[in-house]
Amino acid sequence: MSVIVVQGYYPLKGEIEIQGSKNAALPMMAAALLHKGATVLDHVPMIQDVFCMMGILESMGCVCCLKDHRLTIDASQVSKAQIPKDRGKAMRSSIVVLGALLGRCGEGKAYYPGGCSIGSRPIDLHLGALRKMGAEIREEGEVISAGAPRLSGADIRLSYPSVGATENVILAAVKAKGDTVLRGAAREPEIDILCRMLVSMGARIQGIGTSSLWIRGVEELRDITYEVPGDRIVTGTYLSAVMAAGGEAVLRRGSPRCLGRVLDTMRTMGARIRLWEDEVGIAMDRRPKAVSVTTGPYPGFPTDLQSMAMAVMAVGEGEGYLKETVFEGRFATAKQLHKMGAEIIIEGSEARIVGKGSLKGAKVRACDLRSGAALAVAGLRAEGKTMITDCCHIFRGYEDICGDLRNLGGRIRRES
Ligand code: UD1
Repeated sequence: MSVIVVQGYYPLKGEIEIQGSKNAALPMMAAALLHKGATVLDHVPMIQDVFCMMGILESMGCVCCLKDHRLTIDASQVSKAQIPKDRGKAMRSSIVVLGALLGRCGEGKAYYPGGCSIGSRPIDLHLGALRKMGAEIREEGEVISAGAPRLSGADIRLSYPSVGATENVILAAVKAKGDTVLRGAAREPEIDILCRMLVSMGARIQGIGTSSLWIRGVEELRDITYEVPGDRIVTGTYLSAVMAAGGEAVLRRGSPRCLGRVLDTMRTMGARIRLWEDEVGIAMDRRPKAVSVTTGPYPGFPTDLQSMAMAVMAVGEGEGYLKETVFEGRFATAKQLHKMGAEIIIEGSEARIVGKGSLKGAKVRACDLRSGAALAVAGLRAEGKTMITDCCHIFRGYEDICGDLRNLGGRIRRES
């Protein structure tokens, strides 16, 4: 079991390149399943969730090879339309494989997915949409069995713009018979890139980037090589790190233009931010000012950066507010930050944060992927040593958070 140890109070300075996006790479990997041939993905992050998805694809008969961030998936032979239980439960995004399996094999077996413990994460929208496309779905205990010799296009409206349900419908519709119209689709940049990748494979999709997608089923797809975009959430994490610790940094290849409202919020908090094409620069020479942040679907403030905002406000000045509207129970960071001397009052889906200027190092626990990363951010502005346990959660999504922050001058390392 490894821990992350952070020695606080060192300002950051430097330039780093951001890893590929986890949330883009996972559905792109599932998309490879639709094609009886080879798909090559570049700039793939070397993280646990990617390894887990590779395991899922391999268990079905795909041949995967990941080297130097290039992942080749040969899905010429798919012999088993079943997501293995351990991997399926280990990672929530495993559920998007179900839509791809239905598209490829006409059947699929999945398990109720696991992933971060950030509140209840139902999949009713996924299953409802697949049923509308003609899939017969049986739910027995934690097992989901779906079958449809050939899915048919359908008119689907999602009552909430779920990212995963949107991806599942897209993956199922690409090879379905006829046209699928999906209204109320999520508009996250990761959906955009999934659609663009599928189009270059030969899929017919219109409305990309909007909440109404039109997908005409095709018979065959083709081999492609495609690049995974930089991870906007990792970019947001490191920008938050500079805000907490002070200093300046340039982050390259991190899709900063996909950060929606985040950059404006950071500017309001006192950061000086410059934006180039695929590069963002930040300078922070004061304590972060408190703000009010409400999370929401894209282009709103991403829920995945809510715990970073909490950490930054905890080491800032003034009284700030956070309202979480996407996942209930995503305030696990607060309890850990309390151990570091933070003053955070939670009431239902709202948090009030009283900025303390800095915190005190303590032993804290990474409760989930993003809250773990937020503790590293807080540790950079804590007196003394912060020790983060259960940091395996962090490695699900961050390739080398310690190395990246060290390259920016942070005193942070992983210890066994
Ligand atoms: C994805 C991201 C995750 C991000 C989230 C919201 C990946 C791998 N994960 O997760 O990092 O935090 O989007 O931006 O891309 N819901 C239902 N029924 C459903 C599906 C969802 O009620 O069938 C609810 C969820 O409980 C949640 C909300 O919708 O409250 C958002 O979930 P969703 O957009 O589906 O998130 P994920 O795809 O799981």
